[in-house]
Amino acid sequence: MTQRDFVDDHQGLDAPAAASLPRGPEATESLYSVIRRRRDVRGQFTGEPVDPEILTRVLGAAHAAPSVGLTQPWDFLVVTSDTTRRAFAHHVGEERRAFAEDLDERSTGRFAGIKIDGVLESSLSIVVTYDASRGAPHVIGRRTIADAGLYSVCLAIENLWLACTAEGWGLGWVSFYREPFVAELLGIPSAIRPVAWLCAGPVTFLHGTPDLERAGWRERVALADVVRHDQWAVPADFVGRRDAPVLGGAVSSDVTHRR
Ligand SMILES: Cc1cc2nc3c(=O)[nH]c(=O)nc-3n(C[C@H](O)[C@H](O)[C@H](O)COP(=O)(O)O)c2cc1C
Repeated sequence: MTQRDFVDDHQGLDAPAAASLPRGPEATESLYSVIRRRRDVRGQFTGEPVDPEILTRVLGAAHAAPSVGLTQPWDFLVVTSDTTRRAFAHHVGEERRAFAEDLDERSTGRFAGIKIDGVLESSLSIVVTYDASRGAPHVIGRRTIADAGLYSVCLAIENLWLACTAEGWGLGWVSFYREPFVAELLGIPSAIRPVAWLCAGPVTFLHGTPDLERAGWRERVALADVVRHDQWAVPADFVGRRDAPVLGGAVSSDVTHRR
């Protein structure tokens, strides 16, 4: 898909256009495959310069994310300056030390071998920010949940993460920083909040298991342990059961189910 196709696809996907989308088991499997392959990357960046077409495509994927009230409250600040990235890496190192000082003895040993960023090794950084004023004051869906704006930014980040994976890139989220430091370093206005510093670029490979799990820091929990049914205290017994009965359906009695 070219950059133009991507932009066209995402600026007006009406019914006929949607009908021409790839579908069927292969399309479905390729999406799940990207989701499964996605990793937080610190150590596998090649550091090579990037193709601006690919960069534009992955940013386009991020910009296609859902957002509360269609506010699209994000900006993407692409950072290639060596000086800036070195300054940020230095700050991250200080915050890493501060975190390590708070750890108990057992955790200190395990944390020592964990790499927490690829700021200097990756091709570039992308800082994603949140502008709460965009589309305000009447944001549909944000009246009772102010965080809905931030959630939208995180969805853009996930789109970016998956698109990078599909392109053979890696992405690593770095949150070992103080927001005022990043705001000053990058000249971000005070009303705009830096949400994520992301390291991005081509990688040699992606691990099949998260770094923190390989390092023995934490293990992923099973899906069945986090899916509940109707009430918080009720586990969902359908997860992973091939003979589970069909679930759900519209509440209204005058809805006819298509078969
Ligand atoms: C909000 C957020 C902040 C994160 N911050 C860091 C970070 O500062 N350093 C780091 O190495 N990984 C960071 N990560 C990556 C997580 O450690 C990683 O997603 C998790 O261990 C699961 O691994 P996976 O993404 O490869 O599946 C962050 C992830 C998220 C979602």
